[in-house]
Amino acid sequence: MTVIALQGVRGGAGATSLTAAFAWALNRLGEQVIAIDLSADNLLRMHFNMAVGQPRGWLRTALDGLPWQQSALRYAPGLDFIPAGRINDDERMDFIRQPEKYSHLWTTQIEALKRLYPWILLDVPAGDTPWTRAMLALADRVLMVATPDANCHLRLHQQTFVPHSLFLLNQFSPVSKAQQDLHQLWVNSLKNFIPLTIHRDEAVAEALLNKQPLGEYRPHALAAEGMMTFANWALINLRERA
Ligand SMILES: Nc1ncnc2c1ncn2[C@@H]1O[C@H](COP(=O)(O)OP(=O)(O)OP(=O)(O)O)[C@@H](O)[C@H]1O
Ligand SMILES: [Mg+2]
Repeated sequence: MTVIALQGVRGGAGATSLTAAFAWALNRLGEQVIAIDLSADNLLRMHFNMAVGQPRGWLRTALDGLPWQQSALRYAPGLDFIPAGRINDDERMDFIRQPEKYSHLWTTQIEALKRLYPWILLDVPAGDTPWTRAMLALADRVLMVATPDANCHLRLHQQTFVPHSLFLLNQFSPVSKAQQDLHQLWVNSLKNFIPLTIHRDEAVAEALLNKQPLGEYRPHALAAEGMMTFANWALINLRERA
């Protein structure tokens, strides 16, 4: 059981899309995976074809006092996911104000899931908050998703990251001179920069519009092939060695 958290260096970097795409790629490689949405925005489920009006999710079961296991769903054999669930504005404020009420649940839930799944992927919202800190602490490794722009560059150099962070470049356009330069700079200056890139690719945006993980929607798209290469790299470099 390897627990990998994915978080954007900034909002919109692609953490949720890559969580779904990574889960799909690992599953194609024969791995059993569960992807968990740890953001109250509840968007990960949309990559797994969930009906918009379906309220199911771990926040919903927690608030209703139901067993959390009822929130898990199967997308494909060996590929499961847990949506956050639909909550109302008051419930959302409670979640934001008292994150420890919910984070302590995950401390035990993750242990139960570790007995069932070799791979657990956590989709963590961007930002440094008590909630995100508690969720990143559950993971063996944190994949920080960075897009090659000035915003991410500044954040990379003025923020601190948990020691078990790795950096993955997403939305890379090699035709951009500025992005080429940033890529080169990060390769040379960032410790734990993964030597692979996920390209900017319309197929990523289209996959979400089609409510599918990237590799299922268009397996031969450049970004999907990049994700498959990354999943193979993860099997060698990130899998917990028992
Ligand atoms: N490699 C890519 N190529 C093209 N579009 C991409 C790529 N990665 C992500 N996107 C698009 O960027 C948008 C944001 O992606 P996503 O929701 O995965 O980011 P996020 O980091 O989870 O954002 P948030 O901060 O809201 O959680 C989506 O519309 C997605 O389709
Ligand atoms: Mg997200």
